[in-house]
Amino acid sequence: MSLLELEGVEAFYGDFQALFGVGLSLDEGECLGLVGSNGAGKSTLMRTIVGAHDGVVRGHLRFDGGELPHHEPHKAVGLGLALVPEGRKLFRSLTVEENLLLAEEAGRKGQWTLARVNELFPILKEFAKRPATRLSGGQQQMVAIGRALLSNPRLLLCDELSLGLAPIVIKDIYASLEKVRSEGTSLLVVEQDVEAARRVSDHLVCMRSGRVVLSGSSDELSAGQVTAAYFGTEAA
Ligand SMILES: Nc1ncnc2c1ncn2[C@@H]1O[C@H](COP(=O)(O)OP(=O)(O)OP(=O)(O)O)[C@@H](O)[C@H]1O
Ligand SMILES: [Mg+2]
Repeated sequence: MSLLELEGVEAFYGDFQALFGVGLSLDEGECLGLVGSNGAGKSTLMRTIVGAHDGVVRGHLRFDGGELPHHEPHKAVGLGLALVPEGRKLFRSLTVEENLLLAEEAGRKGQWTLARVNELFPILKEFAKRPATRLSGGQQQMVAIGRALLSNPRLLLCDELSLGLAPIVIKDIYASLEKVRSEGTSLLVVEQDVEAARRVSDHLVCMRSGRVVLSGSSDELSAGQVTAAYFGTEAA
């Protein structure tokens, strides 16, 4: 059985419809890559899954066999979903450690503790007392990932981790995600960089204009197929 299964998901901002009949499924232990150009609806979908989209939501979102409520982010966290949001959204006035401790208090209990997060990202221990805003972009992304892990998710959703980061930093961050996954956490990873998404994922889904336009095994989809779906240039 799938861990996450979406069927006919629609989401609106007021009258504007951003998602149209979105369906996808993700198995336990899997990494699913979600790609698509600017405005395709990737972030809207991620927020919708974790109950954090404010507008109207329709359709079925099933997690571990049960229906996810549409607008209850705390319930989603309790069930084992955690989002690393686009742009990180750290508490700017708090230190690294304070950001993490808040998450540790609020989250589910499990193997991910502050000590384990500091083991995964040793630099966060070194900079524990610094305001989160004084860290580099990559280090801030580590805080954001650590914060999500502290809720001990079964499914970690990551929205454009690599945005604005240097290639070497991106490589480090994805290597850490591999470790997270090897300890049993499933992953849903949004990327604008198709090749990066393909490298980390088992399956790839491509969205365009609020719809899923291609999905398949990351190994089997050709670069040409993905590019055509991404830009909407596929043959009719
Ligand atoms: N707060 C909002 N109010 C109104 N429309 C919005 C809002 N946020 C997003 N949209 C619209 O919804 C659509 C999907 O946006 P979304 O941010 O989900 O795309 P995305 O695939 O994450 O894009 P990006 O790659 O730029 O992050 C776009 O047309 C966008 O303009
Ligand atoms: Mg986005």
